[in-house]
Amino acid sequence: MIDKIKNIIRRELEVSLSGHYGESINVVVEEPKSSNLGDISIPVFSIVKTVRKPMNEVADTVVEKIKGLEVSNLLKEINRVGGFINLTLDRLAFSKNVIDNYFVNGLAVEQVGEGKTIVIDYSSPNIAKPFSVGHLRSTIIGHSIGNILEKLGYQVVRINHLGDFGTQFGKIIYAYLNFGDKEKVDENPIEELVKLYVEFHELAKENPILEDKAREIFKELEQGNPEYQKLWEHFREVSLAEYMKVYEMLNVYFDSYNGEAFYNDKMQAVVDELKAKDLLKKDEGAMIVDLGNDMPPALIQKSDGSTLYITRDLAALFYRKKTYHFDEVLYVVGNEQKLHFEQLKAVVKKMGYDFYQDIHHINFGLVLQDGKKMSTRKGKIVKLEDVLVEASNLSLDYINEKNPCLINKEEIARKIGVSAIIFNDLKNYRTNDVEFDLQEMVNFVGQTGPYLQYTSVRISSVLEENNFTNSELMYGLLIQDHSFDLIKTIAQYEEILNKAKEEYSPSVLAKYLLNLASYFNSFYAKEKIMVDDLRERNTKLCLIYIIRNILDEGMNLLGMQVIRKM
Ligand code: ARG
Repeated sequence: MIDKIKNIIRRELEVSLSGHYGESINVVVEEPKSSNLGDISIPVFSIVKTVRKPMNEVADTVVEKIKGLEVSNLLKEINRVGGFINLTLDRLAFSKNVIDNYFVNGLAVEQVGEGKTIVIDYSSPNIAKPFSVGHLRSTIIGHSIGNILEKLGYQVVRINHLGDFGTQFGKIIYAYLNFGDKEKVDENPIEELVKLYVEFHELAKENPILEDKAREIFKELEQGNPEYQKLWEHFREVSLAEYMKVYEMLNVYFDSYNGEAFYNDKMQAVVDELKAKDLLKKDEGAMIVDLGNDMPPALIQKSDGSTLYITRDLAALFYRKKTYHFDEVLYVVGNEQKLHFEQLKAVVKKMGYDFYQDIHHINFGLVLQDGKKMSTRKGKIVKLEDVLVEASNLSLDYINEKNPCLINKEEIARKIGVSAIIFNDLKNYRTNDVEFDLQEMVNFVGQTGPYLQYTSVRISSVLEENNFTNSELMYGLLIQDHSFDLIKTIAQYEEILNKAKEEYSPSVLAKYLLNLASYFNSFYAKEKIMVDDLRERNTKLCLIYIIRNILDEGMNLLGMQVIRKM
């Protein structure tokens, strides 16, 4: 809300000063260099420069105009210090405004995304391969960005661009037909398919002819060989069923599971268009798009005619543009694919489409364990389900220690465990690496998911025991530092969501919620809520009710689960 006030002041001052001086004037509204100078600051220099009048005269005029603005009733002081005009909020009026606004509008925010569509491509694991910790990051970050965008009024299309195509399927099919075991695969699809893939490679080392056989199978698969097609479909289905277990645990969903294979018949059109636009160059039998000196060329077609990852991404991009008419498309994929997405953009630009500017690679860092990259080493697969289950078990240990009689504790432990993993990821700015320490992330104290859930539960239990109304509140109670910190933080909610969108980083919201929770906890330590004075009690209950609702909505936007008892 402070941002809103700043915007109103800027806009209205510009109109009134432009009218006054008879020329168009830009006003800058910023934060003062130090908080004891006030809450809002307006530098006068630039205005002086534009109107070429003495500083004193301009400053007086600006002060006069501010006094005439409607928002001036939220200001207590207007001070001129050198070339700046500093404004201090009237804490009483501001608190009243924030609280009253909540009881009229709830947590509704301006629908800045109205009429705009954003496609998000996230999760996107590779069929017949384990769901990696990188895919987990993509899933968590993408899902939360989607929620935040929806909150801001955007139409969001969530796409799981499955890696369900590529030469590896020739290998897997060969291995499956020659030394696979159907029952084992059905029982434990991903693990068994990975085993087959690894076995294939070991055999192919001694017998390179197998590589040719696999290529042959893949080619036939592409051309529609029904036996291979059926196997491929089966592998896709059983793999997807595995991933679904993870999605269900995380409460994640998609609008489309069109993976790479879906674009099989849509790539020729791209190749043709590149040809028609004279962008394709032959390079040792392969087809490339030259991207100048900044970047290596994009490899579009191999010498044997087969297409590549980027070819499928181009086809997918044009399909999405045509189907969803997106305003932006986001690819939530790790840092290691930076070049790929730069090339994708560059090719689209070369093709003459302006919408290359709306393509954003939402990159992210690694998951570390004890400071080292956490990976799925050969034969030792980190099974995501197991990790999620382990987190739930650790949470259950905690509950058994603290509140053993809690009803439904298994289910609650699951919610805590899963949310703990989500929050541990999202509290970091996405391009940073994330340390994966289960023990630490399920802790109820510290910068953790359970800490937020616990704060919300604490407030809920106070609210449950008391009725309250929002009439006749004592706003004067809210002007002391420890209360006004809360008021200001509540007022920031909308700006925070917009900032999270700007940076495409849920961490902005995650950190904000930690702040809000810690301000609440210090307020709660200082103030008695259950006082005899009814108006005072009401006021405090209203305040913590709003905080609880922001915490809950914020957690939901991050993809976490809200609980009422723990
Ligand atoms: N399947 C790919 C991988 O695991 C990620 C796909 C990302 N999306 C895309 N449109 N390229 O590396």
